Amino acid sequence: MRLWTALAKQALGGNQVKQLSTTSRVMSKRLEGKVAIVTASSQGIGLGIAKKLVSDGAKVVISSRKASNVEEALKSFPDNEIKNVHGISCHVGKHEDREKLIEETLRQFGAIDILVSNAGTNPHFGPMLECTEDAWDKIFDVNVKSSFLLAKSVVPHMEAQGAGSIVFISSIGAFHPIPMIMPYSVSKTALLGLTKALSFELGPENIRVNCIAPGIIDTKFSGALTSNEFIAEKALENAHIKRFGQPEDIGGIVSFLCSSDAAYITGENIVVGGGMPSRL
Ligand SMILES: NC(=O)c1ccc[n+]([C@@H]2O[C@H](COP(=O)([O-])OP(=O)(O)OC[C@H]3O[C@@H](n4cnc5c(N)ncnc54)[C@H](OP(=O)(O)O)[C@@H]3O)[C@@H](O)[C@H]2O)c1
Repeated sequence: MRLWTALAKQALGGNQVKQLSTTSRVMSKRLEGKVAIVTASSQGIGLGIAKKLVSDGAKVVISSRKASNVEEALKSFPDNEIKNVHGISCHVGKHEDREKLIEETLRQFGAIDILVSNAGTNPHFGPMLECTEDAWDKIFDVNVKSSFLLAKSVVPHMEAQGAGSIVFISSIGAFHPIPMIMPYSVSKTALLGLTKALSFELGPENIRVNCIAPGIIDTKFSGALTSNEFIAEKALENAHIKRFGQPEDIGGIVSFLCSSDAAYITGENIVVGGGMPSRL
């Protein structure tokens, strides 16, 4: 039993304590009544964000390209929360998939209050000037254009409701371009600008737009880096917290930004990077 519970029990008696803890449980569901779309959420950071939003009371639609991955991800939600999760396949680079994602969210849960645009890709490793036009287009299509187009599609629904919250997932590479993945880094810098620009236009509509720039988070995406002892050690030299981040380290800040606790926060780019250098 926690110390405060024991003390409260002594002071108030059992029933009131029960009431108190029920109240605090209810109050902690800060996203109760909200409906969220989290893209690229069948694993890694997206799944971590989706789980946190659901545990904070939101109804969440998870998605990614492969239906089998989405099915697997659905199985990882606790039994008592699964009614608040819906899964569908969606490649964010495809117009028809994005439309289907939005229609399905409205059909399933009746609203869209939150968009977390998390999908990112990086088909090019090597010197920047060796990046092909195709690879450049793919990086910008998935990382930047689809984020903009998804935001554009959800905004009318948020406007109709009188409120909304959009969060883009950028990268610490947006601030300090990462050698060998420079075009990816530039695409993530573009998301910082997209955040500021959309926030300016959507503020009067009570739609807030913010951006998270994760440091190195332990997922499949960063596997080449985190699983190589030499590179991992080098990477952590610049971090103040001497570990890689976990998807849960991102979920909490996204949930906060989508909640009324962050009602006056918009246009911000927030680094979650364990103290790694992170300013332009
Ligand atoms: N991990 C890091 O260190 C780190 C650091 C900074 C920023 N980020 C950013 O965080 C985001 C998530 O990365 P992560 O580390 O969580 O990656 P991850 O663990 O590899 O997961 C990627 C997820 O995205 C889905 N996906 C990939 N391409 C997609 C597309 N075109 N449309 C829809 N879904 C797609 C994948 O499922 P399917 O294969 O089924 O599509 C999977 O669910 C990315 O934007 C990445 O740039 C990551």
